[in-house]
Amino acid sequence: MEQNISHILLSEEQIQTRVKELAAELSVEYAGKNPIFVGVLKGVVMFYADFLKNFNGLCEMDFMWISSYSGTSSGSMVVRKDVSVDLKGRHVVILEDIFDTGSSLQYTYEHLLAKEPASLKICTLLDKPEGRKPGITVKADYTGFAIPNEFVVGYGLDFNEHFRNLPFVGVLKPEVYQDK
Ligand code: IMP
Ligand code: MG
Repeated sequence: MEQNISHILLSEEQIQTRVKELAAELSVEYAGKNPIFVGVLKGVVMFYADFLKNFNGLCEMDFMWISSYSGTSSGSMVVRKDVSVDLKGRHVVILEDIFDTGSSLQYTYEHLLAKEPASLKICTLLDKPEGRKPGITVKADYTGFAIPNEFVVGYGLDFNEHFRNLPFVGVLKPEVYQDK
């Protein structure tokens, strides 16, 4: 599997260090607020688990699963699994793996905002600022790493559902795409 990776962009150690910093920052920010962390499946699972283990204080977990109608990340989105608790009046933090074009986060943010939370913020492990589509108005309140506009896999992120299990974030070799 690792022979498909051209280089490691973020090592396991870099990721773990940064995730602990983010969790420490939010532990202070959300002290006494019993936040709900809404993870956007499936890419977020590694980040979500590591983040939550390092969050200090009362909090709750929930998940959403969304996908685009077309199967590409270009078009309109559909909720395949919604949150399972009432968010009205709650402090909600969306946890995402990556903020690229922004379509998913824009959709998720608006969908959750309609549930009238007391506050709604976005925490993304990765941000590809160069990937952003015009018209995206949401911003990340907390970001792990800004990365170049390259396709990355590992630590939850996939290419055709593969490579999610790598403990680091790496760049795929071009021939892996070309074969598909
Ligand atoms: P968006 O383009 O910001 O809407 O991101 C949509 C989704 O595309 C993300 O949640 C990821 O699942 C996926 N995605 C975007 N960039 C990458 C990447 O570099 N590697 C793997 N998945 C990505
Ligand atoms: Mg995702």
